[in-house]
Amino acid sequence: MALSGKRILLIISGGIAAYKSLDLIRRLRERGASVRPVMTEGAQQFITPLAVGALAADHVFTDLFSRQDEQDVGHIRLARDCDLVLVAPATADLMAKMANGLADDLASTVLLATDRPVLAAPAMNPKMWAHAATRRNVETLRGDGIRFIGPMAGEMAESKEAGVGRMAEPLEIVAAVEEMLGAATPGPLSGRKAIVTSGPTHEPIDPVRYIANRSSGRQGHAIAAALAKLGAEVTLVSGPVNIPDPSGMTVIHVERAEEMRDAVLGALPADIAVMVAAVADWRVASSADQKIKKHPGESIPTLALTENPDILRTVGHHTMRPKLVVGFAAETQDVESNARAKLERKGADMIVANDVSPATGIMGGTRNSVKIIRHDGIEQWPDLSKDEVASRLATLIADRFRQG
Ligand code: C5P
Repeated sequence: MALSGKRILLIISGGIAAYKSLDLIRRLRERGASVRPVMTEGAQQFITPLAVGALAADHVFTDLFSRQDEQDVGHIRLARDCDLVLVAPATADLMAKMANGLADDLASTVLLATDRPVLAAPAMNPKMWAHAATRRNVETLRGDGIRFIGPMAGEMAESKEAGVGRMAEPLEIVAAVEEMLGAATPGPLSGRKAIVTSGPTHEPIDPVRYIANRSSGRQGHAIAAALAKLGAEVTLVSGPVNIPDPSGMTVIHVERAEEMRDAVLGALPADIAVMVAAVADWRVASSADQKIKKHPGESIPTLALTENPDILRTVGHHTMRPKLVVGFAAETQDVESNARAKLERKGADMIVANDVSPATGIMGGTRNSVKIIRHDGIEQWPDLSKDEVASRLATLIADRFRQG
């Protein structure tokens, strides 16, 4: 069965579409998923916990302050002991809470505490869906990595009003769940664990200044997404970037190289490590606790630097070394020979090398032209988008595992 063994936490909020959630529970269970329901106060005005619990064959969680429930499971475990959080129906009110990080009942608290992928099936009056406030909230939620199914166009249940706002049908929601969980067809990397680093690191000089490399995080994030798409269980360790977290993976946000190293080592063991981050080579030996002031006439401060840990090298020589270790090499000259040397020094199996001299426009751009350097040869790839580079690389990695 497509969803066999998958654990869905189903949050039902208060809209008339809640009646469809009863059928949704049946459809999910038919496919082998277990469904653990959480209902808001509002949801209980439309359907009863008794009906929901009977169909789900599980306890229905409704109260953040229930002593019994907290003792048995607890809202944090509720938020994490699942493969996916499904919000159906997702009301305008619950989405507003999610977008603003409010946590004043069990449903919103679980949504704030979860580190699992979240799929929302909105349902509301078309005017509410079209309202600027809802538009803003949806935009924010998408940026936060929340996925949406619907709403659909059609006639509303409660009025003769037509427009966009009707909750997607249970089978459409089930298909989106299957797609998100990679359950539609098991990917070639399913069962494999991957760690990806992305973005720059920021090394503080004082509380307001830092040293950093130029990096948008686009290539690293795209690689994390491509590996997840092939079924890998991905942990993305990202430095400070201005792009959203990809969905369907664990994302750990860090600032400094030492934090990045700790997060990467904490995610071992893994089968695959792809270190894409532009880690700062040096940090300030002793960063100031207070802002360093500028005093006219006084000498300009000098910064004493110290070396940062080399994360790729640490992973490449670790006792828990992943089977496949991939590094990147951003060079402005002698791309190939520098990358070859890196392959040896860092204990990597593969180096993805690119020329980032300013004329190429690669830094911060959306395209990339790379060479793949392995112990047994070199491959030059054509000029591709960063997403294409990511999906080719993920396929190459999957091939390596297929060949053993
Ligand atoms: O030595 P260089 O910085 O050019 O090597 C690039 C590769 O090493 C990239 O894969 C990068 O993510 C990784 N790296 C690292 N930790 C560092 C420096 C680089 O993981 N401190």
